[in-house]
Amino acid sequence: VCNTLSNSATISDEYKLHQLSPYVGKLKSFTASAIVSRFSDPGDLIVDPFSGSGTIPLEAKLLGRSTFSSDVSDYAKVITLGKLSAPDDIRTASDRLMRLIVLAGREPMPDLRRVPAWVRSFFHPLTLKESIQFADVCLRLREYFYLSCLLGILHHQRPGFLSYPSSHLTPYLRDKKFPQGDFPDMYEYRDYRPRILKKVERALSNGYLRKTVENQGLKHEFRRSSIDRLTWPEKFGAVITSPPYMNALDYGRDNRLRLWFITRQESHRVDDRNISSRVKFESAMEVMARESARGLRVGGFLIIVIGELVDRGRQANTAQIARDVFNRNEGISFVSEELNPIPDIRRARRNCIAVKDEVLLIYKKK
Ligand SMILES: C[S@@+](CC[C@H](N)C(=O)[O-])C[C@H]1O[C@@H](n2cnc3c(N)ncnc32)[C@H](O)[C@@H]1O
Repeated sequence: VCNTLSNSATISDEYKLHQLSPYVGKLKSFTASAIVSRFSDPGDLIVDPFSGSGTIPLEAKLLGRSTFSSDVSDYAKVITLGKLSAPDDIRTASDRLMRLIVLAGREPMPDLRRVPAWVRSFFHPLTLKESIQFADVCLRLREYFYLSCLLGILHHQRPGFLSYPSSHLTPYLRDKKFPQGDFPDMYEYRDYRPRILKKVERALSNGYLRKTVENQGLKHEFRRSSIDRLTWPEKFGAVITSPPYMNALDYGRDNRLRLWFITRQESHRVDDRNISSRVKFESAMEVMARESARGLRVGGFLIIVIGELVDRGRQANTAQIARDVFNRNEGISFVSEELNPIPDIRRARRNCIAVKDEVLLIYKKK
């Protein structure tokens, strides 16, 4: 069976909360919403072991499901928990933000000699010091929504952002395109306070605050873990996830500046733990099949959205590896497949490794 998921809704219709901070390889929120509604019931516990920017957990929450999500990346942790803990009224949000700003102002001034030169190269020194103070307070108080807002305005070339001119998705300085001599205002001090207030308001706009979420008895849990070490919940209603396409994306390198603010370490550690080979990918799919066969309720779905990868001319068919592994497991049975072509806007890099199509693999607990 091969259908095509509808792609008619556009990114401008989605809740701005999905755009809290950029994430390479993010799933479309409409895809996540359609899958969660079709393959689970209100009140179900949804498991997403590769949560990334938390698209599936957020849509599941908005549809009245409990969530258990996990990811190996600290950035994924901050942004997933940031989305799940977003305030539900604007007054509470701005009061809390003001309080955090006051606390940040009382933090010791960071010593920039301890900050790596590549991080310093992105910011005016005072902007950097104040941003570190704010990040420190958020980290200490586990205020992941406000920390995600800071990360979401960390680098870009627009006036609402904090860095010197830079790209947004991945951090590359654009000082050749915008030399300081010709664009002096792009290199001046930038006050994070009015900018983060605007970001908070933007994140909660677009109808999100009017969306009433039936929260009774629902729980949202996140574990930062690689899939091979994850302890799954006892019982769950559905597994819905989009695994990494082997080595198509470097989640650590691409998010290195935001990760530095969270961990104060170099980000290659994240890529070391990423699924980077066929063997690792296969064993991750084995975990998914085994845990689904064990913990899913009878008739519950295992759904993965996965790319058919073209690796510099060599076909490395990730979907086929997943199919082979799932078909070998006797506790789950194949239901169907659907094709979901990725619009060009989602293709992060050109002339590099490309993901051709997304396929939805649908399995069921016997
Ligand atoms: C395709 S992305 C998920 C995107 C997510 N659905 C979203 O909308 O943002 C895959 C995720 O797998 C994570 N990942 C890579 N290797 C992992 C591993 N061994 N264990 C757990 N997570 C891993 C990456 O950090 C990345 O966030």
